[in-house]
Amino acid sequence: MDYLHDFHRVKGELVCEKVPVRRIVEEVGTPAYIYSYNTLVGHYRKLVEAFSAIKPLICFSVKANNNLAILNLLVKEGAGLDIVSGGELHKALKAKCPPMRIVYASVGKHREEIEESLKKGIFCFNVESPAELRAIDAAAKLQRIRARVALRVNPDVEAHTHAYITTGKKETKFGIDVKTAVGLVRDHKAYSSIEIMGIHLHIGSQITQAEPFIEAIERGSEVIKAGRGVGLEMAWINLGGGLGIIYKDETPQTPLAFAAAVLPLLQSLKVRLILEPGRFIVGNAGILVSEVLYMKPGPNKSFAIMDAGMNDLLRPALYGAYHEVVSVREPRPQNGHGLIDVVGPVCESADVLARDRKLGDVQSGELLAILGAGAYGSTMASNYNGRLRPAEVLVRGNRWAVIRRRDTLLDLTRHDVVPHKLIG
Ligand code: LLP
Repeated sequence: MDYLHDFHRVKGELVCEKVPVRRIVEEVGTPAYIYSYNTLVGHYRKLVEAFSAIKPLICFSVKANNNLAILNLLVKEGAGLDIVSGGELHKALKAKCPPMRIVYASVGKHREEIEESLKKGIFCFNVESPAELRAIDAAAKLQRIRARVALRVNPDVEAHTHAYITTGKKETKFGIDVKTAVGLVRDHKAYSSIEIMGIHLHIGSQITQAEPFIEAIERGSEVIKAGRGVGLEMAWINLGGGLGIIYKDETPQTPLAFAAAVLPLLQSLKVRLILEPGRFIVGNAGILVSEVLYMKPGPNKSFAIMDAGMNDLLRPALYGAYHEVVSVREPRPQNGHGLIDVVGPVCESADVLARDRKLGDVQSGELLAILGAGAYGSTMASNYNGRLRPAEVLVRGNRWAVIRRRDTLLDLTRHDVVPHKLIG
Protein backbone atom coordinates (compact mmCIF):
# COMPACT_ATOMS: atom_id res chain seq x y z
CA MET A 1 0.00 0.00 0.00
CA ASP A 2 1.40 3.35 -0.94
CA TYR A 3 -0.78 5.28 1.51
CA LEU A 4 -1.91 4.09 4.88
CA HIS A 5 -3.45 6.84 6.97
CA ASP A 6 -3.18 10.38 8.25
CA PHE A 7 -2.31 9.72 11.90
CA HIS A 8 1.28 10.65 12.71
CA ARG A 9 3.51 12.01 15.43
CA VAL A 10 4.40 15.65 15.79
CA LYS A 11 7.01 16.26 18.48
CA GLY A 12 6.26 12.79 19.77
CA GLU A 13 2.48 13.33 20.19
CA LEU A 14 -0.09 11.51 18.07
CA VAL A 15 -2.02 13.82 15.76
CA CYS A 16 -4.89 13.17 13.38
CA GLU A 17 -4.23 15.25 10.26
CA LYS A 18 -3.32 18.51 12.02
CA VAL A 19 -5.16 18.09 15.31
CA PRO A 20 -3.48 16.56 18.39
CA VAL A 21 -5.50 13.57 19.55
CA ARG A 22 -5.07 14.71 23.17
CA ARG A 23 -6.77 18.03 22.41
CA ILE A 24 -9.89 16.27 21.08
CA VAL A 25 -10.03 13.90 24.01
CA GLU A 26 -9.75 16.77 26.49
CA GLU A 27 -13.10 17.95 25.15
CA VAL A 28 -15.00 14.76 24.33
CA GLY A 29 -13.52 12.32 26.86
CA THR A 30 -12.74 8.63 26.34
CA PRO A 31 -13.33 6.20 24.82
CA ALA A 32 -13.70 8.02 21.51
CA TYR A 33 -13.48 7.06 17.86
CA ILE A 34 -11.54 9.59 15.81
CA TYR A 35 -11.64 9.54 12.00
CA SER A 36 -9.48 11.27 9.42
CA TYR A 37 -11.41 12.83 6.53
CA ASN A 38 -8.36 12.85 4.25
CA THR A 39 -7.72 9.16 4.79
CA LEU A 40 -11.32 8.21 4.06
CA VAL A 41 -11.61 10.29 0.95
CA GLY A 42 -8.07 9.42 -0.12
CA HIS A 43 -8.88 5.72 -0.12
CA TYR A 44 -12.14 6.23 -1.98
CA ARG A 45 -10.37 8.27 -4.65
CA LYS A 46 -7.65 5.67 -5.04
CA LEU A 47 -10.27 3.11 -6.04
CA VAL A 48 -12.01 5.53 -8.38
CA GLU A 49 -8.70 6.30 -10.09
CA ALA A 50 -7.63 2.67 -10.33
CA PHE A 51 -10.83 1.75 -12.16
CA SER A 52 -11.27 5.02 -14.07
CA ALA A 53 -11.07 3.18 -17.41
CA ILE A 54 -14.51 1.63 -16.78
CA LYS A 55 -16.11 4.20 -14.42
CA PRO A 56 -17.47 1.84 -11.79
CA LEU A 57 -20.23 2.55 -9.30
CA ILE A 58 -18.49 2.35 -5.92
CA CYS A 59 -21.02 1.65 -3.18
CA PHE A 60 -19.49 2.08 0.28
CA SER A 61 -20.57 -0.78 2.54
CA VAL A 62 -22.64 0.88 5.27
CA LYS A 63 -22.11 -1.99 7.71
CA ALA A 64 -18.43 -1.05 8.01
CA ASN A 65 -19.29 2.39 9.38
CA ASN A 66 -22.78 3.83 9.36
CA ASN A 67 -22.17 7.26 10.82
CA LEU A 68 -24.28 9.76 8.86
CA ALA A 69 -21.41 12.24 8.54
CA ILE A 70 -19.16 9.58 7.03
CA LEU A 71 -21.85 8.29 4.68
CA ASN A 72 -22.67 11.83 3.64
CA LEU A 73 -19.09 12.80 2.87
CA LEU A 74 -18.64 9.72 0.70
CA VAL A 75 -21.96 10.33 -1.06
CA LYS A 76 -20.79 13.89 -1.80
CA GLU A 77 -17.65 12.39 -3.36
CA GLY A 78 -19.91 10.44 -5.72
CA ALA A 79 -20.11 7.12 -3.88
CA GLY A 80 -23.21 4.97 -3.71
CA LEU A 81 -24.03 2.81 -0.69
CA ASP A 82 -24.30 -0.95 -0.12
CA ILE A 83 -27.02 -1.72 2.43
CA VAL A 84 -28.22 -4.88 4.17
CA SER A 85 -31.39 -3.81 5.98
CA GLY A 86 -34.27 -1.36 6.13
CA GLY A 87 -32.34 0.42 8.89
CA GLU A 88 -29.38 0.94 6.59
CA LEU A 89 -31.77 2.07 3.83
CA HIS A 90 -33.07 4.69 6.24
CA LYS A 91 -29.56 5.84 7.07
CA ALA A 92 -28.49 5.87 3.42
CA LEU A 93 -31.41 8.12 2.50
CA LYS A 94 -30.77 10.36 5.53
CA ALA A 95 -27.19 10.68 4.28
CA LYS A 96 -28.73 11.98 1.02
CA CYS A 97 -27.65 9.05 -1.13
CA PRO A 98 -29.60 9.07 -4.40
CA PRO A 99 -31.66 5.83 -4.43
CA MET A 100 -30.25 4.94 -7.84
CA ARG A 101 -26.85 4.55 -6.14
CA ILE A 102 -28.10 2.09 -3.50
CA VAL A 103 -27.59 -1.69 -3.76
CA TYR A 104 -29.14 -4.07 -1.26
CA ALA A 105 -27.63 -7.47 -0.21
CA SER A 106 -28.53 -9.74 2.78
CA VAL A 107 -29.74 -13.33 2.93
CA GLY A 108 -32.85 -12.36 4.90
CA LYS A 109 -34.62 -9.35 3.47
CA HIS A 110 -37.94 -8.90 5.22
CA ARG A 111 -41.12 -8.32 3.15
CA GLU A 112 -41.42 -4.80 4.51
CA GLU A 113 -37.80 -4.04 3.71
CA ILE A 114 -38.32 -5.21 0.13
CA GLU A 115 -41.50 -3.12 -0.25
CA GLU A 116 -39.86 0.00 1.16
CA SER A 117 -36.75 -0.38 -1.04
CA LEU A 118 -38.96 -0.76 -4.12
CA LYS A 119 -40.95 2.32 -3.15
CA LYS A 120 -37.78 4.34 -2.70
CA GLY A 121 -36.50 3.15 -6.09
CA ILE A 122 -33.13 1.65 -5.15
CA PHE A 123 -30.82 0.64 -8.00
CA CYS A 124 -30.77 -3.08 -7.35
CA PHE A 125 -31.33 -6.00 -4.99
CA ASN A 126 -28.59 -8.60 -4.72
CA VAL A 127 -30.76 -11.70 -4.53
CA GLU A 128 -29.57 -14.54 -2.33
CA SER A 129 -32.07 -17.37 -2.99
CA PRO A 130 -34.79 -18.47 -5.44
CA ALA A 131 -37.38 -17.96 -2.67
CA GLU A 132 -36.26 -14.36 -2.24
CA LEU A 133 -36.45 -13.81 -6.01
CA ARG A 134 -40.10 -14.93 -5.86
CA ALA A 135 -40.78 -12.61 -2.92
CA ILE A 136 -39.28 -9.59 -4.72
CA ASP A 137 -41.20 -10.50 -7.88
CA ALA A 138 -44.46 -10.62 -5.90
CA ALA A 139 -43.77 -7.31 -4.12
CA ALA A 140 -42.89 -5.56 -7.39
CA LYS A 141 -46.04 -6.93 -9.04
CA LEU A 142 -48.17 -5.39 -6.29
CA GLN A 143 -46.49 -2.02 -6.85
CA ARG A 144 -46.85 -2.46 -10.65
CA ILE A 145 -43.13 -1.92 -11.21
CA ARG A 146 -40.16 -4.03 -12.27
CA ALA A 147 -37.51 -4.73 -9.68
CA ARG A 148 -33.90 -4.60 -10.81
CA VAL A 149 -31.90 -7.49 -9.37
CA ALA A 150 -28.47 -9.09 -9.58
CA LEU A 151 -28.20 -12.76 -8.63
CA ARG A 152 -25.69 -13.19 -5.82
CA VAL A 153 -23.66 -16.14 -7.02
CA ASN A 154 -21.84 -18.30 -4.49
CA PRO A 155 -18.85 -19.33 -6.60
CA ASP A 156 -17.47 -21.80 -4.05
CA VAL A 157 -14.00 -20.27 -3.91
CA GLU A 158 -11.56 -20.04 -1.02
CA ALA A 159 -10.88 -16.41 -0.11
CA HIS A 160 -7.97 -17.24 2.27
CA THR A 161 -9.26 -15.15 5.15
CA HIS A 162 -10.78 -15.71 8.62
CA ALA A 163 -13.50 -18.40 8.60
CA TYR A 164 -16.04 -15.96 10.09
CA ILE A 165 -15.63 -13.54 7.19
CA THR A 166 -15.50 -16.08 4.36
CA THR A 167 -18.70 -15.93 2.33
CA GLY A 168 -17.99 -17.49 -1.07
CA LYS A 169 -17.72 -21.18 -0.08
CA LYS A 170 -20.63 -23.48 -0.72
CA GLU A 171 -20.92 -24.36 2.99
CA THR A 172 -21.89 -20.75 3.83
CA LYS A 173 -25.42 -19.37 3.81
CA PHE A 174 -24.63 -16.74 1.18
CA GLY A 175 -25.68 -16.55 -2.45
CA ILE A 176 -26.93 -19.03 -5.03
CA ASP A 177 -24.78 -21.81 -6.50
CA VAL A 178 -23.83 -21.47 -10.16
CA LYS A 179 -26.11 -24.27 -11.39
CA THR A 180 -29.19 -22.87 -9.65
CA ALA A 181 -28.37 -19.34 -10.84
CA VAL A 182 -28.05 -20.57 -14.43
CA GLY A 183 -31.48 -22.22 -14.00
CA LEU A 184 -32.97 -18.95 -12.74
CA VAL A 185 -31.73 -16.84 -15.65
CA ARG A 186 -32.92 -19.45 -18.15
CA ASP A 187 -36.30 -19.34 -16.45
CA HIS A 188 -36.37 -15.53 -16.15
CA LYS A 189 -39.72 -15.20 -17.93
CA ALA A 190 -41.36 -16.84 -14.93
CA TYR A 191 -40.55 -13.70 -12.94
CA SER A 192 -42.44 -11.09 -14.91
CA SER A 193 -41.83 -8.19 -12.50
CA ILE A 194 -38.08 -8.78 -12.31
CA GLU A 195 -35.27 -7.46 -14.46
CA ILE A 196 -32.12 -9.53 -13.97
CA MET A 197 -29.34 -7.04 -14.63
CA GLY A 198 -26.32 -9.17 -13.84
CA ILE A 199 -24.56 -10.95 -11.02
CA HIS A 200 -23.19 -10.13 -7.58
CA LEU A 201 -20.19 -11.80 -5.97
CA HIS A 202 -18.96 -11.13 -2.45
CA ILE A 203 -16.59 -13.86 -1.41
CA GLY A 204 -15.37 -12.55 1.94
CA SER A 205 -13.58 -9.76 3.70
CA GLN A 206 -9.94 -8.80 4.38
CA ILE A 207 -8.77 -10.56 1.19
CA THR A 208 -5.23 -9.55 0.29
CA GLN A 209 -4.77 -11.11 -3.16
CA ALA A 210 -6.56 -10.85 -6.52
CA GLU A 211 -6.68 -14.59 -7.30
CA PRO A 212 -9.88 -15.43 -5.39
CA PHE A 213 -11.67 -12.54 -7.12
CA ILE A 214 -10.48 -13.77 -10.52
CA GLU A 215 -11.64 -17.29 -9.79
CA ALA A 216 -15.00 -15.94 -8.64
CA ILE A 217 -15.46 -13.87 -11.80
CA GLU A 218 -14.61 -16.88 -13.93
CA ARG A 219 -17.23 -19.02 -12.19
CA GLY A 220 -19.79 -16.22 -12.19
CA SER A 221 -19.27 -15.60 -15.90
CA GLU A 222 -21.11 -18.88 -16.60
CA VAL A 223 -24.26 -17.21 -15.28
CA ILE A 224 -23.67 -14.10 -17.38
CA LYS A 225 -23.20 -16.21 -20.49
CA ALA A 226 -26.28 -18.30 -19.73
CA GLY A 227 -28.34 -15.10 -19.32
CA ARG A 228 -27.09 -13.67 -22.58
CA GLY A 229 -27.90 -16.98 -24.23
CA VAL A 230 -31.56 -16.39 -23.42
CA GLY A 231 -31.63 -12.72 -24.43
CA LEU A 232 -30.80 -10.95 -21.15
CA GLU A 233 -28.28 -8.14 -21.39
CA MET A 234 -26.53 -9.06 -18.09
CA ALA A 235 -24.76 -5.70 -18.19
CA TRP A 236 -23.53 -5.55 -14.60
CA ILE A 237 -21.14 -7.43 -12.38
CA ASN A 238 -20.88 -6.50 -8.70
CA LEU A 239 -17.62 -7.76 -7.19
CA GLY A 240 -18.69 -6.99 -3.62
CA GLY A 241 -16.23 -5.71 -1.05
CA GLY A 242 -13.42 -7.61 0.60
CA LEU A 243 -10.26 -5.66 -0.21
CA GLY A 244 -7.83 -6.25 2.64
CA ILE A 245 -5.90 -3.61 4.55
CA ILE A 246 -2.81 -3.51 6.76
CA TYR A 247 -3.48 -4.19 10.43
CA LYS A 248 -0.07 -5.67 11.22
CA ASP A 249 2.20 -7.07 8.54
CA GLU A 250 -0.24 -7.92 5.75
CA THR A 251 0.79 -7.06 2.20
CA PRO A 252 -2.53 -6.38 0.49
CA GLN A 253 -2.78 -5.65 -3.19
CA THR A 254 -2.98 -1.96 -4.08
CA PRO A 255 -6.12 -0.73 -5.86
CA LEU A 256 -4.00 -0.36 -9.01
CA ALA A 257 -2.75 -3.94 -8.82
CA PHE A 258 -6.27 -5.18 -8.11
CA ALA A 259 -7.65 -3.23 -11.07
CA ALA A 260 -4.85 -4.47 -13.35
CA ALA A 261 -5.72 -8.05 -12.38
CA VAL A 262 -9.48 -7.89 -12.87
CA LEU A 263 -9.97 -5.26 -15.61
CA PRO A 264 -9.04 -7.48 -18.56
CA LEU A 265 -11.58 -10.08 -17.45
CA LEU A 266 -14.30 -7.48 -16.95
CA GLN A 267 -13.55 -5.86 -20.30
CA SER A 268 -13.69 -9.17 -22.13
CA LEU A 269 -17.03 -9.91 -20.47
CA LYS A 270 -18.26 -6.44 -21.52
CA VAL A 271 -19.80 -5.70 -18.16
CA ARG A 272 -20.12 -2.58 -16.04
CA LEU A 273 -18.70 -2.80 -12.54
CA ILE A 274 -20.02 -2.21 -9.02
CA LEU A 275 -17.71 -2.46 -6.01
CA GLU A 276 -18.84 -2.53 -2.37
CA PRO A 277 -15.75 -1.71 -0.31
CA GLY A 278 -16.13 -1.05 3.40
CA ARG A 279 -12.92 -1.84 5.27
CA PHE A 280 -10.65 -0.56 2.50
CA ILE A 281 -12.15 2.93 2.70
CA VAL A 282 -12.67 3.40 6.41
CA GLY A 283 -10.57 0.76 8.22
CA ASN A 284 -7.33 2.67 8.58
CA ALA A 285 -9.12 6.02 8.74
CA GLY A 286 -10.26 5.53 12.33
CA ILE A 287 -8.71 5.00 15.76
CA LEU A 288 -10.24 4.27 19.15
CA VAL A 289 -8.70 6.34 21.94
CA SER A 290 -8.99 5.07 25.46
CA GLU A 291 -7.56 5.87 28.88
CA VAL A 292 -5.54 3.44 30.97
CA LEU A 293 -7.57 3.24 34.18
CA TYR A 294 -5.17 1.02 36.08
CA MET A 295 -1.96 -0.88 35.55
CA LYS A 296 -2.12 -4.29 37.17
CA PRO A 297 0.98 -6.46 37.43
CA GLY A 298 0.36 -10.19 36.91
CA PRO A 299 2.61 -13.22 37.41
CA ASN A 300 3.73 -13.42 33.78
CA LYS A 301 2.71 -10.11 32.30
CA SER A 302 0.93 -6.89 33.21
CA PHE A 303 -2.56 -5.76 32.36
CA ALA A 304 -3.37 -2.28 31.12
CA ILE A 305 -7.01 -1.95 32.14
CA MET A 306 -8.67 0.45 29.74
CA ASP A 307 -11.90 2.40 29.72
CA ALA A 308 -12.69 0.84 26.30
CA GLY A 309 -13.69 -2.79 26.04
CA MET A 310 -15.10 -5.45 23.77
CA ASN A 311 -18.43 -3.62 23.72
CA ASP A 312 -16.67 -0.68 22.03
CA LEU A 313 -14.43 -2.70 19.69
CA LEU A 314 -15.50 -6.32 19.29
CA ARG A 315 -13.06 -7.48 16.61
CA PRO A 316 -10.26 -8.77 18.88
CA ALA A 317 -12.69 -10.73 21.07
CA LEU A 318 -14.75 -12.09 18.17
CA TYR A 319 -12.07 -12.91 15.60
CA GLY A 320 -8.84 -12.70 17.56
CA ALA A 321 -8.20 -9.71 15.29
CA TYR A 322 -4.94 -7.80 15.68
CA HIS A 323 -5.05 -4.03 16.17
CA GLU A 324 -1.92 -2.03 16.75
CA VAL A 325 -1.91 -0.13 20.06
CA VAL A 326 0.20 2.99 20.48
CA SER A 327 0.70 5.64 23.07
CA VAL A 328 -0.90 9.03 22.38
CA ARG A 329 2.01 10.87 24.02
CA GLU A 330 5.59 10.22 22.99
CA PRO A 331 6.32 6.56 23.83
CA ARG A 332 8.85 6.15 26.66
CA PRO A 333 11.24 3.21 26.74
CA GLN A 334 10.30 0.02 28.53
CA ASN A 335 10.52 -0.10 32.31
CA GLY A 336 9.68 -3.17 34.34
CA HIS A 337 6.26 -3.91 32.82
CA GLY A 338 7.44 -6.42 30.22
CA LEU A 339 4.64 -7.73 28.04
CA ILE A 340 1.26 -6.10 28.48
CA ASP A 341 -2.26 -7.33 27.75
CA VAL A 342 -4.50 -4.39 26.93
CA VAL A 343 -7.87 -5.33 28.40
CA GLY A 344 -11.29 -3.77 28.86
CA PRO A 345 -13.48 -3.50 31.96
CA VAL A 346 -16.18 -5.91 30.68
CA CYS A 347 -16.89 -9.03 32.72
CA GLU A 348 -15.71 -11.53 30.10
CA SER A 349 -12.33 -13.21 29.76
CA ALA A 350 -12.54 -12.50 26.03
CA ASP A 351 -12.44 -8.77 26.75
CA VAL A 352 -8.85 -8.40 25.55
CA LEU A 353 -8.10 -5.66 23.02
CA ALA A 354 -4.46 -6.62 22.46
CA ARG A 355 -2.21 -9.37 23.82
CA ASP A 356 1.49 -9.50 24.69
CA ARG A 357 2.40 -6.00 23.59
CA LYS A 358 5.53 -4.02 24.30
CA LEU A 359 4.16 -0.61 25.07
CA GLY A 360 6.99 0.98 27.01
CA ASP A 361 6.43 2.62 30.34
CA VAL A 362 2.63 2.83 30.43
CA GLN A 363 1.11 4.66 33.39
CA SER A 364 -2.46 4.80 34.60
CA GLY A 365 -4.21 7.92 33.40
CA GLU A 366 -2.50 7.95 30.04
CA LEU A 367 -4.09 7.59 26.64
CA LEU A 368 -3.62 4.71 24.24
CA ALA A 369 -4.83 4.64 20.64
CA ILE A 370 -6.07 1.46 19.00
CA LEU A 371 -5.35 1.76 15.30
CA GLY A 372 -7.27 0.44 12.30
CA ALA A 373 -10.55 0.75 14.17
CA GLY A 374 -12.53 2.69 11.56
CA ALA A 375 -14.29 -0.32 10.02
CA TYR A 376 -16.54 -2.64 12.03
CA GLY A 377 -15.64 -0.71 15.18
CA SER A 378 -18.45 1.64 16.11
CA THR A 379 -20.99 -0.33 14.04
CA MET A 380 -20.41 -3.45 16.14
CA ALA A 381 -20.40 -1.58 19.46
CA SER A 382 -23.07 -2.30 22.06
CA ASN A 383 -24.28 -1.27 25.50
CA TYR A 384 -23.27 -4.60 27.06
CA ASN A 385 -22.46 -4.28 30.76
CA GLY A 386 -24.45 -1.02 30.84
CA ARG A 387 -21.69 0.77 28.99
CA LEU A 388 -22.21 3.95 27.05
CA ARG A 389 -21.26 3.75 23.38
CA PRO A 390 -18.31 6.03 22.57
CA ALA A 391 -18.32 9.50 21.07
CA GLU A 392 -17.18 9.81 17.46
CA VAL A 393 -15.19 12.66 15.98
CA LEU A 394 -14.26 13.59 12.41
CA VAL A 395 -11.08 15.57 11.74
CA ARG A 396 -10.40 17.51 8.56
CA GLY A 397 -7.14 19.44 8.42
CA ASN A 398 -6.90 21.54 11.56
CA ARG A 399 -10.63 21.39 12.35
CA TRP A 400 -12.84 18.73 13.87
CA ALA A 401 -16.42 18.00 14.87
CA VAL A 402 -18.30 15.50 17.03
CA ILE A 403 -20.24 13.27 14.60
CA ARG A 404 -21.86 11.10 17.26
CA ARG A 405 -22.31 12.15 20.84
CA ARG A 406 -21.43 9.67 23.55
CA ASP A 407 -24.45 7.72 24.82
CA THR A 408 -26.04 9.10 27.95
CA LEU A 409 -27.58 7.20 30.83
CA LEU A 410 -30.96 8.03 29.33
CA ASP A 411 -29.99 6.06 26.22
CA LEU A 412 -29.65 2.97 28.39
CA THR A 413 -33.26 3.04 29.56
CA ARG A 414 -34.96 4.82 26.65
CA HIS A 415 -36.48 1.69 25.10
CA ASP A 416 -37.29 -0.32 28.21
CA VAL A 417 -40.83 -0.52 29.54
CA VAL A 418 -41.85 -1.57 33.06
CA PRO A 419 -45.43 -2.73 32.32
CA HIS A 420 -48.29 -1.73 34.61
CA LYS A 421 -50.31 -4.71 33.50
CA LEU A 422 -49.78 -7.76 31.31
CA ILE A 423 -51.78 -8.47 28.16
CA GLY A 424 -54.15 -11.48 27.95
N1 LLP B 1 -20.65 -6.44 0.44
C1 LLP B 1 -21.23 -7.43 1.15
C2 LLP B 1 -22.35 -8.16 0.57
C3 LLP B 1 -20.74 -7.74 2.43
O1 LLP B 1 -21.31 -8.72 3.12
C4 LLP B 1 -19.65 -7.02 2.97
C5 LLP B 1 -19.13 -7.33 4.30
C6 LLP B 1 -19.10 -5.99 2.20
C7 LLP B 1 -19.61 -5.72 0.94
C8 LLP B 1 -17.95 -5.14 2.69
O2 LLP B 1 -16.82 -5.90 2.89
P1 LLP B 1 -15.38 -5.21 3.17
O3 LLP B 1 -15.01 -4.41 1.96
O4 LLP B 1 -15.54 -4.35 4.35
O5 LLP B 1 -14.48 -6.35 3.40
N2 LLP B 1 -17.16 -7.70 10.98
C9 LLP B 1 -16.09 -8.28 10.19
C10 LLP B 1 -16.32 -8.06 8.71
C11 LLP B 1 -17.65 -8.58 8.22
C12 LLP B 1 -17.87 -8.31 6.76
C13 LLP B 1 -19.27 -8.56 6.40
N3 LLP B 1 -19.59 -8.26 5.03
C14 LLP B 1 -14.76 -7.72 10.66
O6 LLP B 1 -14.75 -6.91 11.60
O7 LLP B 1 -13.71 -8.09 10.14
